[in-house]
Amino acid sequence: MRQTRQRIPEFFRRLIALKRGQLGDDLASALIVARDNGELVSDTELIDMLFMVLSAGFVTTTGVIGNGVLALLTHPQQLHLVRSGQVPWSQAIEEILRWGSAVANLPFRYATQDVEIDGCTVRRGDAVLMAFHAANRDEKAFGPGADRFDVTRRHNPHLSFGNGPHFCLGAALARLELRCTFTALFGRLEDLALTIAAEDVVYMPSYVIRCPQRLPVTFRPSIA
Ligand code: HEM
Repeated sequence: MRQTRQRIPEFFRRLIALKRGQLGDDLASALIVARDNGELVSDTELIDMLFMVLSAGFVTTTGVIGNGVLALLTHPQQLHLVRSGQVPWSQAIEEILRWGSAVANLPFRYATQDVEIDGCTVRRGDAVLMAFHAANRDEKAFGPGADRFDVTRRHNPHLSFGNGPHFCLGAALARLELRCTFTALFGRLEDLALTIAAEDVVYMPSYVIRCPQRLPVTFRPSIA
């Protein structure tokens, strides 16, 4: 971990040098310009900001893609509802986000004051672990079928992008990426199928991120 942590600033220093030579219409270029204008106070802040966006935006999205492909391939009737147009992809993607939330738990939050939640007191300074994956299966919010993957679910107030002032900065981009990926995967590939049993899928060894480490599949290119 320590070695990786040391290599990260090096990677971003190279990226910044590369981008400085050819600034474009992209987020990294905008952040570099913000640094040059003094809006970001140090190179460390610039690197940390780039690292934050890359790390928060990558494994989360690939994780939901893995969870979603697994959910759809193991629930063929649900997949049929989407492929046949009976359920729009936008609705199915919200259910994939709820049922397959890649950020299962988020640590490192601390209460700034005593808070009373449902008869339980969280004291000032207490560490809080936000268990989004559990919240997304709360029967009080999603009814008795909360544990079921159900693309026909319309009322879907999931917490997969968090809530409040730290609500995911990339939620709109993530939804767009998921839509592009799922429509391409299930629109262009024929007979997409798992090559291993669902119970043999190996998950990332993490209590924060919950998604398959790899998901082996077979398919044929679509004729259309
Ligand atoms: C499906 C994909 C994604 C999921 C499930 C996801 C989930 C989350 C969650 C749970 C949080 C924490 C919210 C909180 O603390 O209450 C978060 C924050 C954040 N996300 Fe995402 N995210 C995704 C994609 C992205 C993308 C594509 C980007 C950027 C390119 C991104 C950038 C961020 C950033 C910068 C934050 C921190 C916001 C802050 O602390 O103010 N995320 N995301």
